[in-house]
Amino acid sequence: MYGRDLAQVYDLVHKARGKDYRIEAEAVAAAARRHRPDASRLLDVACGTGGHLCHFAELFDHVEGLELSEPMAAAARAALPGTPVHPGDMRDFRLDARFSVVTCMFGSIGYMESLTELRRALVMFARHLEPGGVAVVDPWWFDETFLDGHVSADVVTVDGVTVSRVSHSARRGRVSHMDVHVVVAEPGTGAHHFVDRHDISLFSREEYEDAFRAAGFQVEYLPGQPSGRGLFVGVLT
Ligand SMILES: C[S@@+](CC[C@H](N)C(=O)[O-])C[C@H]1O[C@@H](n2cnc3c(N)ncnc32)[C@H](O)[C@@H]1O
Repeated sequence: MYGRDLAQVYDLVHKARGKDYRIEAEAVAAAARRHRPDASRLLDVACGTGGHLCHFAELFDHVEGLELSEPMAAAARAALPGTPVHPGDMRDFRLDARFSVVTCMFGSIGYMESLTELRRALVMFARHLEPGGVAVVDPWWFDETFLDGHVSADVVTVDGVTVSRVSHSARRGRVSHMDVHVVVAEPGTGAHHFVDRHDISLFSREEYEDAFRAAGFQVEYLPGQPSGRGLFVGVLT
């Protein structure tokens, strides 16, 4: 999961699929600044290749990232020279710093495998926030909104590299199991194929909200924006 193969084509595929990191980052910054107008320091947890961090860096005085996958973190470091991108697991990390905003985008929180892990991650976010700080979480689909059997397919060509990505997601109890098949082809080099498998938890909206409260946040849910799955905005009390 999130190995070198995927890290190499991740940006190309998601940007070509129409994911607008700038608009998402602006929506997150606006949601956080409704509660902390002076927010200046941001940590993006599970920052991936740094798609949001690049834009957060223009919206906040100081930004840092945290990422479990080394190939994804390496891509983020290459995109953001000078920005700290820490290796780490959101279930248990300790940075010697506090932030006004902690973000966790694109359903990454769904990699928590149980309610205990979900609560643990939110406690970690709280520990890295200044008093009154804000955690903004772009959740995975809820148990009540997940579309069982969903197929998504894209073929993109950028700078001579063609990538096809076809995914199938199926419910297994309270987990969505997604198989992602990727073919990468370059003229003169050939084509190769890899499969990335993801198990992403289907927490309910109420379970997310309970986990925020248990970690010491007041929480609101903004439906829809910016990715379609809505945003949780937690303010540390
Ligand atoms: C869908 S990608 C999102 C990446 C990035 N936030 C974005 O919006 O493009 C999910 C990311 O979560 C990371 N991840 C998964 N489990 C994690 C964990 N326990 N701690 C930190 N990062 C994790 C993966 O390595 C991957 O980079």
